[in-house]
Amino acid sequence: MTQSQLTNAGATYRQILVNTLVPNRQAGVKLFFRTDKNNFVLFINNTSQVSAAKLEQLQQNNVKHLYLSITDQQGYLNYLKENLSAILSNPELTDNDKAEIIYDTASSITKELFLKPSTKGIKQTRNLVNCMIDTISHSPKTCNLLMMITSQDYYTYTHSINVGIYAISMMRKVKPSISDSELKTLGLGFFLHDLGKARIPNSILNKQGSLDQYEWQLMQEHPMLGVELVHKMGEDSPLLTDIILTHHERNCGTGYPRKLTGNEISLPGKVCALCDVFDALTTKRPYKKALSTFESLKLMKNEHHEQFDMELLNQFIILFT
Ligand SMILES: [Fe+2]
Repeated sequence: MTQSQLTNAGATYRQILVNTLVPNRQAGVKLFFRTDKNNFVLFINNTSQVSAAKLEQLQQNNVKHLYLSITDQQGYLNYLKENLSAILSNPELTDNDKAEIIYDTASSITKELFLKPSTKGIKQTRNLVNCMIDTISHSPKTCNLLMMITSQDYYTYTHSINVGIYAISMMRKVKPSISDSELKTLGLGFFLHDLGKARIPNSILNKQGSLDQYEWQLMQEHPMLGVELVHKMGEDSPLLTDIILTHHERNCGTGYPRKLTGNEISLPGKVCALCDVFDALTTKRPYKKALSTFESLKLMKNEHHEQFDMELLNQFIILFT
């Protein structure tokens, strides 16, 4: 979570925005005021609804933040997940607030999904992507702000969020006429592109040295494993499965699993591949430092250009300028 922390009498509290509270719904966690003397006084119990009158009172007193115990952090994230659409429709939230709420919720949902893929997790991811695209439609600046808060620490789940954000931004750029409905389906595909890695042993995913032949073969199966997983969970949109299956194909035919070339690869597949490589370069791993945006784009353009559609790569570069 991106909100700041405070400690008092041995307990640690996290700040939350009052504007994330939806009138007449339970937040599901105890919420506290912070007094001038840095004491924390109970504002509302975990079982009580936050009434419109109470929220009004906070607004009149210009209270922007409440606090919760960090031990209740997961409860608050669950509240965000379940009420995301209603929360993001609050006109009082700034674009920056919306970007932070989306990113925190995305982290919570995808972390759980990659640990244990489930139909519920996919449903939550779909809701997240839908809310994100609705928000971007009304407040396009949120898209740039999301691109700025992507994580530099590499985990499969943070990589999925980063690629999801870059690829949604890129699709809006290269296909301005794209409908929200198509973007939502593609967006889910971008967020789930690496789901098959949930079926690859951690010893291979986190191996510091190079992979042996067997390990590399197994790694190359993750696009197919991802498609199998989403099919098993009732997701069979060809737009979605195409992204999962083609995100490691390369324009010059050196990719996997099918060694497709040029026009054999769909536009979303090419976009996902670009964003996937860019995020791998700009995040740090135990065996390599994170390259800057400039260094990464330069490397992609100068040394790996044959792997990508040049026109798309140029558009991608413009996205960061
Ligand atoms: Fe992948």
